[in-house]
Amino acid sequence: MTISARLEALLRAAESICVLTGAGVSAESGIATFRGPEGLWARFKPEELANVDAFMRNPALIWEWYTYRKTVIHQAQPNPAHHALVGMERLVRDFTLVTQNVDNLHARAGAQKVLELHGNIERSYCVECRTFASEIILAKQGEVPTCRACGGLLRPDVVWFGEILPQLVLQEAFRASERCELFFTVGASGLVYTAAGLPLRARECGAYVVEINTEPTELSHRCSERLYGKAGDIVPELFAHMSESRKEQPS
Ligand code: APR
Repeated sequence: MTISARLEALLRAAESICVLTGAGVSAESGIATFRGPEGLWARFKPEELANVDAFMRNPALIWEWYTYRKTVIHQAQPNPAHHALVGMERLVRDFTLVTQNVDNLHARAGAQKVLELHGNIERSYCVECRTFASEIILAKQGEVPTCRACGGLLRPDVVWFGEILPQLVLQEAFRASERCELFFTVGASGLVYTAAGLPLRARECGAYVVEINTEPTELSHRCSERLYGKAGDIVPELFAHMSESRKEQPS
């Protein structure tokens, strides 16, 4: 893989790096992305499964779908891209990992801190009293899990279409994109805002923005550099560059 001298220099010396990941970073773990011919939205209707009205209309159906997705995720393992990002986190003084993914694979790979823009499928909370369930819920068919505290409906802690993102997480993500020297967008189609605004903000604030994807995206022309290929190949190679070049530096 050929990278620019500018990226080489930033891998060696950048003190502040921000990374945004999308579904593509988990594709090699066997978790379907959302768009594209094999994507979830090619098989399931987001308007029937990923919004609060659909949930209130038929919570059993939504729980059945999230239980199916959790079963797939529990059988999956973090891949080399997830692990390489954990490696970068250990090497870089100010490293921020932001994800659109709800699959918890960054944390399972050992990431110390993950800003989860769209929530986490492993968590559930009560729509009445907001109490979080203490366990990971796998609902039986037709079952609708309820809150132990008040008996209210439990829902997955994920951001559905039409819902706002967790504001404190979002603010922290924007602050990181504004101060970083190097920004990576990995496996994100750049079609969903607010998340897609992060690499653009980073670029506006002078960061060098690198896109890693198997194909061009809506964001490609706004990035400083594009590396096309699988995240599971490219991110480990970038990490290898980084750790090698930082080893050479006098302490
Ligand atoms: N390596 C790198 N990129 C990949 C790989 C891979 N192995 N496989 C697929 N991709 C790329 C695709 O080319 C695409 O650009 O990952 C991207 C996945 O795009 P989407 O399916 O649109 O996923 P994402 O960008 O995360 O979607 C954003 O939309 O549906 C909502 O809330 C959901 O968080 C999600 C948001």
